[in-house]
Amino acid sequence: MSQNKEAVKRKVLAEATRLGILLNPEALSMLVENYDEKMIHTVLGKLVEEIREEGIVVSKKDVERVIGGAMKMGVSLGVHNQILAKDVEERIEVLKSYEARQASDDLEARRKYFADRYSKISSILRSRVDMVPYYPLRKACSLPDRSEGKTIVMVYEKRENYLVVEDIDFTTKIWIPKDCDKDLREKIGRLLPDSVVGVSFYVSNSRLFCRSLIFPDVPIKRFKPAEEDVSVILTSDIHYGSQKFSEKAFIRMIRWLRGEGLTEKEKEASSRVKYIIIAGDLVDGVGVYPQQEKELKVRSIEEQYVGLSNLLSQVPEYIKIIVIPGNHDATLRAIPQPPIFNEYLEKLNNSGNLISLSNPCMVSLHGVKFLVYHGTSMEDIATFAKNASYDRPENAMEIMLQLRHLAPVYGSRTPLLAQGQDDLVIDEVPDVFHTGHVHVFRNGVYREIRLINSGTWQERTRYQEQLGILPTPNIAAVLMLKNGMVSQIRFA
Ligand SMILES: [Fe+2]
Ligand SMILES: [Fe+2]
Repeated sequence: MSQNKEAVKRKVLAEATRLGILLNPEALSMLVENYDEKMIHTVLGKLVEEIREEGIVVSKKDVERVIGGAMKMGVSLGVHNQILAKDVEERIEVLKSYEARQASDDLEARRKYFADRYSKISSILRSRVDMVPYYPLRKACSLPDRSEGKTIVMVYEKRENYLVVEDIDFTTKIWIPKDCDKDLREKIGRLLPDSVVGVSFYVSNSRLFCRSLIFPDVPIKRFKPAEEDVSVILTSDIHYGSQKFSEKAFIRMIRWLRGEGLTEKEKEASSRVKYIIIAGDLVDGVGVYPQQEKELKVRSIEEQYVGLSNLLSQVPEYIKIIVIPGNHDATLRAIPQPPIFNEYLEKLNNSGNLISLSNPCMVSLHGVKFLVYHGTSMEDIATFAKNASYDRPENAMEIMLQLRHLAPVYGSRTPLLAQGQDDLVIDEVPDVFHTGHVHVFRNGVYREIRLINSGTWQERTRYQEQLGILPTPNIAAVLMLKNGMVSQIRFA
């Protein structure tokens, strides 16, 4: 095999591994022989769909079927033929969006909130086969020396040598053995206060010791592609009204969506866009931080929404725009944040083309489930978890999925509406997890879930300089619903 073919083989294998499929040798050599850089993602994506029911090993027959189909079905695979999103019927289903709830200092409502969190995440953990033998915490503490078992705890405090933990009716310490393995050390590094996890324990000298931690985590499931070949633009943190808002770049994106000044190839990509999701911080707001007025170009929040509306109304009318609020928008601060207040939404929705939802929300587009969350809790995660930082938001997103909670830490920087039910538990596993807030564009894949932190349209502010945050403005993510492929376009 020539060096070139060897490189192609490695590329095909890497992509197949990422998608969770195995290629038998004949299938691999056929894919290498027919390799086409532009087609390979689509062909492998199609193979994932084809073999979904039968297992994970791809045969030569499967490849023949898909490659043959790809040649005949150029349109539906969307490679050589232009498909206009305006000819595709809209398919939006709002799965979760939260309206305003009455806030109070009711202690009983707060107790119920944490009990609800414990109960929801416990039931995720209890459904795992490795959670036996299970003991409630009180019972675990009364077991004789050398007993072993599993329990489920909420972490109250994380210390060097022990965790203070609790369940519904008991609080205790769980000790971390000095000679604990790397896996446990790493998990403790990712553990957040107030998160709920399983503990595999043993009893020694009447004390509980942690053998390993069991995160509720998300199951590995294949990306469920849409039938229609349309795309979604994922973006956030426009900060309209700030002196640092990149209006020129934002207008470039709108011109791209309108197909203005594009090559034929670019036009094809742009004409597939059927939806835009904006994950919060649409405007810069007023009075969000001390002396913000000095950095504002538009000093009234109403005018900020009007200004942004003027831009968004230039987006082609067949593109639906889904918006959620961030910490700079006009709504309540505590998360879940209800949708942007109606009086401001009216100003923003000049085109009538907007769907306004809460932060967070879950929405299905052509059957692909998006969990959209502004991401305010990334600040807490960067503080408490070892490998999370502002410039690697995808690590914080992974931790949220592993702990099955968007904002576990209570009483720190993230304002939580900690009353009654806990809507921030990730009880439904998404296909796409979209966040913003830290102004850094990053994307990745975790257990087949597409992770996108969508950056910003605001250049670096003085406040960010002080925090050492280096934003990556003017990049939009484009996600193809047909195969889950994510690309990025720079409009700088
Ligand atoms: Fe922001
Ligand atoms: Fe934000």
